[in-house]
Amino acid sequence: MGRIISFSSGKGGSGKTFCSVNSATELASRGYKVLIFDIDINCSNVFILLHVKPQTKLQEYFEGVIPLKECIIPSEHGVDVISAGVNIQRFIQFENDYNLARLADDLKELSSDYDFIILDYAAGINQAMMRFYAMSDDIILIANPEITALTDIYRLMKMIHVNNKTDKMYLIVNKVKNIDWAINLFREIKKVVAKFELKIELKLLGPILFDEVRVMSSIQKRTPLVKLYPKTPIKGGFSLSMTRYLNEIGEMKGDKDIASKTFSDFF
Ligand SMILES: Nc1ncnc2c1ncn2[C@@H]1O[C@H](COP(=O)(O)OP(=O)(O)O)[C@@H](O)[C@H]1O
Ligand SMILES: [Mg+2]
Repeated sequence: MGRIISFSSGKGGSGKTFCSVNSATELASRGYKVLIFDIDINCSNVFILLHVKPQTKLQEYFEGVIPLKECIIPSEHGVDVISAGVNIQRFIQFENDYNLARLADDLKELSSDYDFIILDYAAGINQAMMRFYAMSDDIILIANPEITALTDIYRLMKMIHVNNKTDKMYLIVNKVKNIDWAINLFREIKKVVAKFELKIELKLLGPILFDEVRVMSSIQKRTPLVKLYPKTPIKGGFSLSMTRYLNEIGEMKGDKDIASKTFSDFF
């Protein structure tokens, strides 16, 4: 069984999709088999970043006509995708409890074909999504330096912890101007967690720098940034994050120095 990873933040615009797509591509480039499921089915955009053709098959899946497996689209970047494409609003009718439960079961089954399945969430903290957090092996939170993002992250952590007893989560701090910002934000979040006595171990995976020019260019070129700009500080953040993550889950047994690797080792 592959691992299911939730990429979430509770807030829109924090970079969940950007971080999901680039983390997935980073893992695929290291030889892992990766699928991204764009759970933001009413406003999906993973397909744009990975340059796959939007399709209507997910609708047929929800109608019970085809199995979930047939909705998988391979991308040219080594990552498989399931996405609703451009059918904004049309999928609302499928967001009922029965369908979400069926989807969660089918995704779990699909995980036997992959090393990692990444779930890219929609904005918002809602109960309906709890079953997807519950079936995830790992939760990666995407934080931003803004104060409102901090409040949302904390609310999300608490909800996942209370519902699913999840006691370990990972943090990627996105859109930071420098590494110190990321470390400070990580400390802030840990302080809040401690203050409210949440028993959650929080691990910082890495800082992803704010880099408007390269991010925009990678979106315009429909090529994940980690592929388009292999030797840049922003790509270094993804290398570090995924190296630390793989180390945490025991996937990097060969390299004893990994735990001590820092941001500067990656670019
Ligand atoms: N590190 C970054 N530097 C600059 N812009 C970024 C960065 N990460 C994300 N963005 C931009 O921020 C916006 C929101 O990102 P997105 O991944 O769509 O967020 P979410 O999926 O959380 O709503 C997009 O326009 C994206 O290009
Ligand atoms: Mg998104």
